[in-house]
Amino acid sequence: MGFLSRKKPKSAPVEIQEEHPIVDELHEMEQAVPERVAEQPRTEIEDIPQPAVDEEPEEAPLNAAEPEPEPEESPEAEGDGRMKAIDLIAPTRLDFLAEKETAEREPVKTAEVIAFANQKGGVAKTTTTLNLAVAFAESGYRVLCIDLDPQGNLTMSQGIDPDKVERSLYDVLVNDMPISEIIVKREIDIAVASIDLAGAEIAMSTKIGRERSLEKALKEVAGDYDFVCIDTPPSLGLLTINALTAANKVIVPVQCEYLSMRGLVQLQNTLRMIQENLNPDVKIEGILPTMLDSRTIHAKEAVEILEENFGDLVFQSRIKKAIKFAEAPVKGASVLKYDSASSAANYYRDLAKEVLSHGSP
Ligand SMILES: Nc1ncnc2c1ncn2[C@@H]1O[C@H](COP(=O)(O)OP(=O)(O)OP(=O)(O)O)[C@@H](O)[C@H]1O
Ligand SMILES: [Mg+2]
Repeated sequence: MGFLSRKKPKSAPVEIQEEHPIVDELHEMEQAVPERVAEQPRTEIEDIPQPAVDEEPEEAPLNAAEPEPEPEESPEAEGDGRMKAIDLIAPTRLDFLAEKETAEREPVKTAEVIAFANQKGGVAKTTTTLNLAVAFAESGYRVLCIDLDPQGNLTMSQGIDPDKVERSLYDVLVNDMPISEIIVKREIDIAVASIDLAGAEIAMSTKIGRERSLEKALKEVAGDYDFVCIDTPPSLGLLTINALTAANKVIVPVQCEYLSMRGLVQLQNTLRMIQENLNPDVKIEGILPTMLDSRTIHAKEAVEILEENFGDLVFQSRIKKAIKFAEAPVKGASVLKYDSASSAANYYRDLAKEVLSHGSP
């Protein structure tokens, strides 16, 4: 498994044996219970919800070879509808052990990591990262955005000044700072960029495992999110390679112009290199036509060429040109917040539905 949740207990499952101190403690608690039961008013006792251990006895959490010692039943606890002593006292401890066991057995759900990449500048990588992330969040998913671009446009478009950011992804990638320390809560959670991220590629270049720094950092929070959306700079340098190595999927925004599409072959080659050497499972989730002016023949032809060359990889969703996309970042908001009812906002809601239809996390 690529990611581990920090919630996952590190210790091995607890083996309960007769002489185990917890068992002794349980015995002691059972002995002490009858008096406590007698002290309680009847109504209070009946109000106590039935504990999980009684609801699903076959799911008993303890994996001890020997059966759980039977509690000595007190006269007060027997036959009058009241709960047994062990039920009143032991559940907390038993539930704790049950949780521990369950966490060991069940795979921890980890975030789907999507990188938004295209080495060409100004094709709507940042716009798509933010607005798709917010559309996921609107649907109830827990989303983290990562601003891996030294320009800090994603950070800015959530109203944060990258020049005033003290701790950023630079510290995470270069100095191994936990990523949780640089996450800021806005419309979505965002791991922020600062201007010094521009020096990260050089600073990381001598580090062992430099391509995997982001992947490593994400392990800390992968259990806390459903989606991690990574905005990348307009280059195929070490920062973008880190994003592609950490990602399960890549979304490639493409401006619908002939010149914008030429770089796609180069991007595909880089991705193939990543698959062969660093991350065999990464795949292109889709190519997204952006800034589409459907009135022009040129844009229509460009989309046709895209579909002829990449077939089903081209999303059905289309992001049309709209002035709102330029206005919203100035207000430090996504388009979905800036003008929730606009068709611009709906372009990204539709894209979110399409991505989710490919398989939600
Ligand atoms: N659908 C759209 N219609 C009109 N303008 C748009 C649209 N999408 C994005 N823009 C605008 O185009 C510009 C470039 O978009 P964006 O910053 O998202 O591109 P980018 O690929 O992240 O750029 P860079 O490579 O510099 O990081 C921004 O000013 C943005 O507001
Ligand atoms: Mg950008």
